[in-house]
Amino acid sequence: MAFARVMLPMGTLPYEAAVIRRGPERASQGAWTVTRGNGRKGTFIAVANMKGGVGKTTTVVGLAEFLALERGASVLVVDLDQQASASLCTVGDAMLSQLMQGGRTVDAFLKARLIENRDGSLPSRIRRNSCNLLHEGRPVFTSLLPSSPQLRIVERDLLVELTRRGLSFSDIVATLAELFAQDFGRLRVDFDYVLFDCAPGISPLTEVAINASDLVLIPTIPDRLSAFGLYAFMENIVRRGAAPDARELNTKVLFTRVQSGVAQHEHVRASLRAKGQFAILATEIAQNATLAAGIFPDDAPLGAPPVTPTVKQKYGAAAEQYRALVAELVPAQAK
Ligand SMILES: Nc1ncnc2c1ncn2[C@@H]1O[C@H](COP(=O)(O)OP(=O)(O)O)[C@@H](O)[C@H]1O
Ligand SMILES: [Mg+2]
Repeated sequence: MAFARVMLPMGTLPYEAAVIRRGPERASQGAWTVTRGNGRKGTFIAVANMKGGVGKTTTVVGLAEFLALERGASVLVVDLDQQASASLCTVGDAMLSQLMQGGRTVDAFLKARLIENRDGSLPSRIRRNSCNLLHEGRPVFTSLLPSSPQLRIVERDLLVELTRRGLSFSDIVATLAELFAQDFGRLRVDFDYVLFDCAPGISPLTEVAINASDLVLIPTIPDRLSAFGLYAFMENIVRRGAAPDARELNTKVLFTRVQSGVAQHEHVRASLRAKGQFAILATEIAQNATLAAGIFPDDAPLGAPPVTPTVKQKYGAAAEQYRALVAELVPAQAK
């Protein structure tokens, strides 16, 4: 086996690793939630698109907070982008610097486990129960596994180091997939949802997150360039799949930053829906200045206590769209 060449400290899996492998039995169930032995459910959702600026991070943050708000779900955001946007949105830059210094990031974890062969722990790197939203005076909590700009370097060092040890590219992807199955797989016990904020472009990490996920959510701006990017993404990542056993993935396209009245947006939305090649969600997220400002807040003035916004302040009219997104993805009776 390819993975045997890289030492992965083995632990006791709380459920069968096979449960996160995509298989015909999953497809025949027609469902993307996974019931564990203890009856609780943990679902992996990768939010991905090769294109940048299409609203991946905004979707991750919005979906995380509305899953917590609407379904009372425990949600972990895993930042897999070296730009660390989801991390900045969730804990702010001062706290992120502290977490980076303490090695509490996903890149520090990957470095420890795969480059230095240390037994790096994933749970200890999770920042639990951040609150960036108030609903009816009560805090809405989500958790974060942060990223940092070092992720770019760690990914490169990982390729160099594992190649030096004689692993082929597909061995490296398989090694990462095994790490996901073991370490990230365990997080299904602690969290109802794990949302992966994938980097733009194609990297082994993105491919592995996609292949390990029960649902791949693909935010897409309904313009011509983004539609072109959507076809390229489907072809490169989804249809051809990185892992040799990659099968049909459960993908859903989410139109984001939609501008009604803009001819190109109207045309692209209508034609992609009419063609029926992709599973496109009925819910759409409109272009919305309140959302853009609310998700990436300005730093509070020096010395001032942090101000936690209400749903209305942070999301404005987008709140109803995220509620609809949660209702479409997770019908109320499913939880
Ligand atoms: N629905 C929206 N309305 C207005 N601006 C948006 C919306 N969604 C995203 N944006 C803005 O577009 C930019 C890119 O969004 P982001 O979520 O960071 O995309 P990605 O993660 O795909 O690069 C950000 O400045 C963000 O605030
Ligand atoms: Mg992003």
